[in-house]
Amino acid sequence: MHLNLTGQTVAVLGAARGIGRAIAGNFLAEGCQVRGFDRDPHPSPLPAPGTMAIGDAAAYEQVTAFADTCGDVDHLVFSVGVGSGKFGFPFWNLEPGDWARVLEVNLIAAVNAAHAFAPRMVRRGRGTMLFLTSVAGQIGSQTDPPYSAAKAGLINFMQCAAKDLAPFGVRVNALAPGMVRTDLNESVWAAGQRGLPAAQQQDYATWGAEKIRKVAPLGRWQLPEEFAAMAIYLASDHARNITGQTLNIDGGQVMHS
Ligand SMILES: NC(=O)c1ccc[n+]([C@@H]2O[C@H](COP(=O)([O-])OP(=O)(O)OC[C@H]3O[C@@H](n4cnc5c(N)ncnc54)[C@H](O)[C@@H]3O)[C@@H](O)[C@H]2O)c1
Repeated sequence: MHLNLTGQTVAVLGAARGIGRAIAGNFLAEGCQVRGFDRDPHPSPLPAPGTMAIGDAAAYEQVTAFADTCGDVDHLVFSVGVGSGKFGFPFWNLEPGDWARVLEVNLIAAVNAAHAFAPRMVRRGRGTMLFLTSVAGQIGSQTDPPYSAAKAGLINFMQCAAKDLAPFGVRVNALAPGMVRTDLNESVWAAGQRGLPAAQQQDYATWGAEKIRKVAPLGRWQLPEEFAAMAIYLASDHARNITGQTLNIDGGQVMHS
């Protein structure tokens, strides 16, 4: 299948690691010009000098400054995410004060990105946006309540943005992972182990295998490459009738009618 993305420009927030890094790499492989943004000066997945900016996606002025350096962008991908770092079951394991930063990074930062990149897409009458949310945002996951609530908010905002931007030829969608072996996923495991009696503690591989067996009918980890494949498809004209959708790549964990 030819996606015809060659020469198009893509901005990826959260491009240094995990799913965002794989998505950036896949757009590059399609012949796109990719600009990355991340808080982490991790060795860049983007080879050309100046294509990776360092900043905090929760700081609107840093995101608008990045957008200004990108110029006209065909596709925006938001793959930033963090957990609270605490085991959220029951919810009073967290303090109310633990919520603000989680909401800022997972939800407000995504809104920042949409605000910063929408005006140019509207002016040009084309573009796509893709937000990484989570199955947690669809099921009231007890693992990390502020993360779960932020991801639910992000799905809702994505739908608002999809409706607002449709008349301007801009499509907006979300991808929802279940279990992907990344730093973020490992941090969820680490938070869960803290405070458990030694006899109940599990290593990361055992915890992951057990959780996947319980929640995902297909019974396997999802891979960053699977999100990268869907990201380039959604950016292409083959997906011209897809907007406002949350696509779960989760081994069947959450099923919708
Ligand atoms: N890994 C999973 O199992 C899983 C499950 C559900 C949802 N997700 C979602 O997928 C997306 C990608 O996560 P991942 O698993 O690749 O995690 P990751 O930790 O590997 O990557 C997240 C990236 O976001 C960057 N980042 C974090 N806070 C930032 C900030 N304030 N400003 C700029 N950059 C920031 C990190 O440095 C990192 O490069 C996230 O939105 C996450 O919530 C992941």
